[in-house]
Parts: sequence; structure tokens; C-alpha cells
Amino acid sequence: MKIAFFDTHQFDKKAFNKANQNFNLDIQFHETCLNEKTARLAQGTQVVCSFVNDKITDACIKELASYGVRLIALRCAGFNHVDIVSAQKQGVLVARVPSYSPHAVAEFATGMLLSLNRKIHRAYLRVKELNFSLDGLEGFDLYQKTVGVIGGGKIGNIFAHIMTSFGCHVLMYDIVKDPELEKNKSIKYTDLENLFCQSDVISLHLPLTPETHHIIDQVSISKMKEGVYIINTGRGSLIDSIALIEGLKNKKIAGAALDVYEEEENIFFQDLSDKILQDDTLARLLSFPNVLVTSHQAFLTKEALQNIAVTTLENIEEFIKTGSVTTERLVNPKHHLQ
Ligand code: NAI
Repeated sequence: MKIAFFDTHQFDKKAFNKANQNFNLDIQFHETCLNEKTARLAQGTQVVCSFVNDKITDACIKELASYGVRLIALRCAGFNHVDIVSAQKQGVLVARVPSYSPHAVAEFATGMLLSLNRKIHRAYLRVKELNFSLDGLEGFDLYQKTVGVIGGGKIGNIFAHIMTSFGCHVLMYDIVKDPELEKNKSIKYTDLENLFCQSDVISLHLPLTPETHHIIDQVSISKMKEGVYIINTGRGSLIDSIALIEGLKNKKIAGAALDVYEEEENIFFQDLSDKILQDDTLARLLSFPNVLVTSHQAFLTKEALQNIAVTTLENIEEFIKTGSVTTERLVNPKHHLQ
């Protein structure tokens, strides 16, 4: 049986071809994203494999189901881009890779914070132009600062511990408390209001759900400290980009590091260097010297790619052999609607 892989890039072809030596599945790599218009490429297969920027809407799922697709194997952890309720109605299973390297993302968030604060990205460009001046490159010590972590799951947990190793105080907000986390005396759970008021740096490590959509908006920004730094390696729509731009313009927000962006689907992962950028909001964000944007790359380590490839191929192989996938790797609609 052919497996149709969508939105594939050199980095994942390499990892999947290597991992597939132990599975021997018949993989068909497509560069295009999966959406209702491209779903027809799945004709003749029961399994499609999708990444973060595919648009797996109700219409797309109906189309896939009409061709006999029975499994959407996500090669990512997040599943906000899939209409899970529709998949359930159409009898299409959705499997994911619940964890592949939380360290990769937490370490990248740390790197973004360091670069943004200490202006490393600006210094790199300056020195290339033989400009060795230091004016405008001042940062601040992270030591003794308060870092608010929103979402203390696998990634938020590791990020919080990294921050404590810098001598920071961590304020954590999560709907579920992990008693292990507070064994570290520098980490305290708090409510969202207090986290917004007290934090010098806020880092987002939440899934995107109806409840977390625009968790950073005009109202929450108004509660934050003057000069706050915001780091987002979670999902773009956790932040209202227009409110973020306003906060940057009036200098309430001193800097933002964004690995994800609300409208990234048709932009991130592509070389648009000879095109005219049509997204004015992203163009405005890119114009700030104190905004660091990366193209959803926090996951991109050798270890993470290998884990993603092996777990995804295991999910597909299990489905082919048994007609289902291990429960922990199946996306549960109730979970999605929490
Ligand atoms: P996780 O499931 O281990 O942790 C998520 C945490 O968020 C959980 O502790 C959960 O209780 C909490 N949470 C859920 N809804 C909440 C709410 N309404 N309010 C407060 N807390 C809430 O997930 P993990 O592995 O830590 O990943 C976090 C997110 O990071 C993913 O959902 C994904 O969107 C993003 N991610 C980004 C990557 C990148 O390359 N930039 C790569 C991998 C994940």
C-alpha cells in the first residue's frame, strides 16, 4: 500500500528514508501541503502522513475518506490543524507523535531568548559589515529575573528547569499541576493574572485549543510589566499578532521571539526570497529590530527528526497490521475539546 506524505522537505525525506530501511513501507513524498484541493493525491492509499501546516478541514477529511483513507498519521505532536470531530465522524483515525524531543524545543526557546535579549542576531549582521560598534546592543542579566512559563507539560517543564539554572525565578501556569515541578524551589505555580503582572519574560508552551487561542491579546498585554519579553515556540495563534504589534510600538513589549506565526501556513518552510511578501502583519513584525522570527524550526534537531520518523512509521505499520494504532498515540476528540 502506498503512503502519501504531504508537505515534505529535504530534512524529513532524509530522516524518513533512513528510518524506512527498517520498515520497507511504500512512501510517496509530495511537496504540496495537504488540503481539500490536494487531497486527491491520496487516491489509492489508506494512509496519509501530514505535518504542521496542512489544513485538514472537514472538507479535506470528507475528500480523503471518499478515496478510502483510514489513517492520518501526523508527524508532529500538535493537532490543532486537524478537524478531529470530522475525522471521527468519517471513521478516519488520527495518530500523532506525542513526544519526539521536548529538549529540542526548550533549548531552542532558550536560544531565542538569549539572542533576543543580548542582540546576538543583530551583532552577527553588524560584524559582517565590519561595524564593530556596541551601541544599541545592550541586554540584561537573566539572573534573578522572573520568567513566566505558560504550559508546563513536557517542553515547558524542561524550559522552566533551564531557566532556573540561569538563576531565574519561574512562575508556572497550567491547568494541571505537576507536584514534581515544585520540588524545584525556584519554580512556583501561579494564576495567569499574577504571571502576567510579575514576569520579565513570558514563554508559551501550550497547545492551541479554543481556550488558548489568543491567550496573549490586548487585555493580557495591558497587565504585563513594562519592558516584558515574549517568546513563542508553541503555536502562532496563541498570540494576537495585531495586539503584539501595538505592544511593540508603544514599547510595553521590549522584544518578541516568534518561532511560530498565526498565518504561517503558506509562508514558513518555503523559500520566498524572490517573491513579494503579501502578509502585511508579518512584514510589520519583521521590521522591528527587537523581533526575532524563525520559521517553525524549534523541533529541528537530528534526534527529533529521527524520533519523529521512527514513531510515525511505527504508527503506520501498526495500522497496516492491526487496523488501529496504540491508544496513547491516537488523538482523542474529547481531549481536543477540553
Ligand atoms: P504537553 O502536552 O506535554 O504540554 C502542554 C501543557 O499545556 C500541558 O501541561 C497542559 O496541561 C497545558 N495546557 C493545555 N491547555 C491549557 C490551558 N487552557 N491553560 C493552561 N495550560 C494548558 O505538550 P508539549 O510537548 O510540552 O508541547 C507544547 C506545545 O508546543 C505543543 O502543543 C505544540 O503546539 C508546541 N510545539 C512546537 C514545536 C515547534 O517546533 N515550535 C514542536 C513541538 C511542539
